[in-house]
Amino acid sequence: MNTVSLIANGRKVSADVEPRTHLADFLRDTQNLTGTHLGCEHGVCGACTLLIDGAPARSCITFAVACENAEIITIEGLDDDEIAAELRAAFTREHGLQCGYCTPGMIVSARDVVMRLQEPSEHDIRVAMSGNLCRCTGYVGIIRAIQGVIEDRRARGIAAIPGGGRTSLGPAGAGRAGAVARASAAARIALKTDASETTPAPSHSASLSADWKPQMSFNQSFVVSHPVDDVWRFFGRIEDVASCLPGASLAGAPVSGHVQGRIRVKVGPISAEFQGAAEIDRDDATRTGRISGSGKDKRSGSATRGLVGYAVKPGENPGETRVDVSIGYTLTGMLAQFGRSGLVEDVASRLIKAFVANLEARLAHEARGGRSETLSLPVRELDAGSLISSVVFGRFRRLFARLFGRN
Ligand code: FES
Ligand code: FES
Repeated sequence: MNTVSLIANGRKVSADVEPRTHLADFLRDTQNLTGTHLGCEHGVCGACTLLIDGAPARSCITFAVACENAEIITIEGLDDDEIAAELRAAFTREHGLQCGYCTPGMIVSARDVVMRLQEPSEHDIRVAMSGNLCRCTGYVGIIRAIQGVIEDRRARGIAAIPGGGRTSLGPAGAGRAGAVARASAAARIALKTDASETTPAPSHSASLSADWKPQMSFNQSFVVSHPVDDVWRFFGRIEDVASCLPGASLAGAPVSGHVQGRIRVKVGPISAEFQGAAEIDRDDATRTGRISGSGKDKRSGSATRGLVGYAVKPGENPGETRVDVSIGYTLTGMLAQFGRSGLVEDVASRLIKAFVANLEARLAHEARGGRSETLSLPVRELDAGSLISSVVFGRFRRLFARLFGRN
């Protein structure tokens, strides 16, 4: 017997199994996750498809022992997933199921198709779904349901994510193998840095493809009571900028405009820690900059890609600076619900408010000749409790203002 520990639908689980036990049996027999169905048990029918480290995989031909520490998401783990919910409604509407035996695997594969393909033809969808067999419904309704969800999402401005946000392709568990390889490569680079004092090369790129379009975007502005030159210079010091953002930290110094780090976001019961990388561009002539990046919250399996553009310009009053910020992002996974509700915009405006308070304190301290180590920033953490209640309160206030024409 072997002990296998992995994360199933966000929960750490562990059980003793025979080395020959496949993942589907492990989940069904030891975790009661019976939404994963078994048809052929030969890797042919696709009924047992689930997500291993974000990639669809056949659980009937994957040994449970090969999934040590992997993140598994079964059909039960997609209950609150936005795309899966849209697919369930579309399968019902288009008569995409009869007995429903193939449906969990169909939904998992279809969700991947919806995420990856921007404007697939019917043929493209048939090819992409050819690993999932249905014995009783036929495929017309299934394909129509998937096509309907894709068209509806694209019409709402939600673009496909190249590769479904995955950084590696390959058989089940390849994502984990890739992550382990990247981690050990990073460790090797770190060791080399310690020994030789050289600057490590970026381990991967965070740049967005040219045709990337955000799901959501919004603009915000703020004014700082310091001269425009000082503010522009400050924005060039990435470590200092990160230190002013509550919950953010860098993994190291930026290298050729590339930086890795993490940001913790906590709003009421929702908490996430996105780890990722960003590319930074600045143009001194126009005093504009852009930061493109991507990150992943391991616990929820959510991923985000985003683009922040900013322009630093003189404010209305002498000695003041106005900063216009445009934010575009795509959020997938369990936390997509959080993005859809518009809470992100509220959270961003509170983050920016906290950032401005820290920035003001920092610039004033520097103007007095103080060293950064001797400054205690005014906002180190956002108050999650008051944040969510003020978000809800703000929503009600706006609703009443709309209904009765006053605040
Ligand atoms: S049961 Fe796994 S592919 Fe058929
Ligand atoms: S709905 Fe019965 S096998 Fe597909």
